Amino acid sequence: TIADMKGVKKGRLRIASVTTTKYFMPRLLGPFCAQYPGIDIALEVINRDRLLERLARNQDDIYVMGVPPDGMNIECEPFLENSLVVLAPSSHRLTTLGRTVRFAELAQEHFLVRERGSGTRLTMERLFEEHGVRPNIRMELGSNEAIKQAVAGGLGLAILSDSTIGEDHLNHQVCVLDVEGFPIRRSWYLVRSKEKRVSVVAATFLEFLKSHVNLLGHPAKEVQQAI
Ligand code: PGA
Repeated sequence: TIADMKGVKKGRLRIASVTTTKYFMPRLLGPFCAQYPGIDIALEVINRDRLLERLARNQDDIYVMGVPPDGMNIECEPFLENSLVVLAPSSHRLTTLGRTVRFAELAQEHFLVRERGSGTRLTMERLFEEHGVRPNIRMELGSNEAIKQAVAGGLGLAILSDSTIGEDHLNHQVCVLDVEGFPIRRSWYLVRSKEKRVSVVAATFLEFLKSHVNLLGHPAKEVQQAI
């Protein structure tokens, strides 16, 4: 279109993004919308299961998730680091060992976990399965924020994406434990259905995202600090 030729892109972009991406996706939209004011964005923030339903119905242009599904006609591209870390209350005895905590020791603790259908929960369950142990689940909470607060409150430990550890630290009440096998290094993926044509607007956004992830700094390197 003439609008594209002038570099003034117009249109609507539908993005569905898993819950944990709320720590960086909205931040990336600011500079994108400033550069392309003609592009109107609808962002759905939902857990992995809800996102897979939307993907199966081909409802959005772009999906952002940590654990892409097998067996769907999709294209996935990793674009940002998404490591899982173990959070503990700062006063927890495992924080004072002065050495790496063994997985067997970790497995004896109580855990605060995300709801079923969450990618974080799925990854945690797979990890325990690989070690042939069942996690002691103290409580299931439907939000990363609620889990961090519950960890601070001393209810248990949690395995969460380091994306959840932002500047909103909990006054040093929570810290990242040094545990064997952690951080679990994973990526955030840009996913799109091969059954949907890539619009000019979607292609513009994908390019923008890939070239602007550096705006987010390097969250993986900050993880070792007490938060
Ligand atoms: P979730 O997904 O927010 O549904 O837990 C996170 C992930 O897939 O890493």
